[in-house]
Amino acid sequence: MHSFEELQEIFNNEIDRYSPAVEPENLQKPVVYTLGMGGKRIRPVLLLMAAETFGGKYQDAIPAAMAIEIFHNSTLIHDDIMDEAELRRNQTTVHKQWNLNSAILSGDLMIIKAYEQLNQLNSNKINQVLTVFNKIAAEVCEGQQFDLDFETDDEVSLSDYKKMIRLKTSVLLAGSLKIGAIVGGADTDNAKKLYCFGENLGLAFQLQDDYLDAFGNTKSFGKKIGGDIAANKKTFLLLKALELAKGAYHDELTSLLGNNSISESEKIESVLAIYEKLGIKSLTEDEMKKHFEKAIEYLEEIDIDEKYKDGLYELSKKLMGRQT
Ligand code: IPE
Ligand code: IPE
Ligand code: MG
Ligand code: MG
Ligand code: MG
Repeated sequence: MHSFEELQEIFNNEIDRYSPAVEPENLQKPVVYTLGMGGKRIRPVLLLMAAETFGGKYQDAIPAAMAIEIFHNSTLIHDDIMDEAELRRNQTTVHKQWNLNSAILSGDLMIIKAYEQLNQLNSNKINQVLTVFNKIAAEVCEGQQFDLDFETDDEVSLSDYKKMIRLKTSVLLAGSLKIGAIVGGADTDNAKKLYCFGENLGLAFQLQDDYLDAFGNTKSFGKKIGGDIAANKKTFLLLKALELAKGAYHDELTSLLGNNSISESEKIESVLAIYEKLGIKSLTEDEMKKHFEKAIEYLEEIDIDEKYKDGLYELSKKLMGRQT
């Protein structure tokens, strides 16, 4: 079994070796730029780890890991268009560095390149893998559309939010684990439990992402702080604040959401001040912890020797403390 760091390094070497075509430059360069700008490589590493957990060779799972990471990066390019984000991994986003059309098209190309990788899987499980991949890839689109729809919907509930983040984020983490488990030869029951572990880890991960978007530090997070507030994203933070705010705070909060006359930085500052007063920070931490613990319960239920679960346990603990 390899550690998270070892698999991360192995995988980064694979990415470095990956060389797409060179022409046309405005299509191909954004692909190289995006894949080369770093990132934590969580999903491919989870996939490789899952394969090893069930006695598979990580080498056999590399094409699937590549497919997942290339797909993930395509969703980031398109997500940054939708969220009008200018900064990712501390670098200018593709649609700003190039333009909207290049970002749309290079993101599209990366989805095709992901399938090209899947086609290189040397496994009799390719059909099973494709079934999982197709399902989660479609679900990410569904989640992303809910995320956008919610920006202008003032009736969003916390359960709507959970459904949305499960689709846009959790299923890709969970699916990566499931694909790794399939390639590694896990039985259906264990693969399912690993998926449930990933689903809850993914919910905690997106809650953490929403948390860092408000309370993080631009330099380590690599994204603009307050972007979700500026875009009226229905995050756990905002929904919880709307639920708890009474009287004057509630009026202030709802009027801030609809206020286009104040500057973006003023809006961010005012919403953050309300979060502070309502204790949103620790409530979000509690919610993250809840899903993290649920994830660990599923991990414990998996029927393999405990020592094979250590890597996944360590990785999830590390993820919960992330600043990036
Ligand atoms: C960003 O994912 C998108 C979310 C689901 C929050 P990551 O935080 O895994 O992004 P990178 O790949 O490490 O940059
Ligand atoms: C991430 O949601 C979902 C996907 C990229 C599919 P966010 O919009 O919160 O992700 P970041 O914060 O921009 O990475
Ligand atoms: Mg975004
Ligand atoms: Mg988004
Ligand atoms: Mg975010």
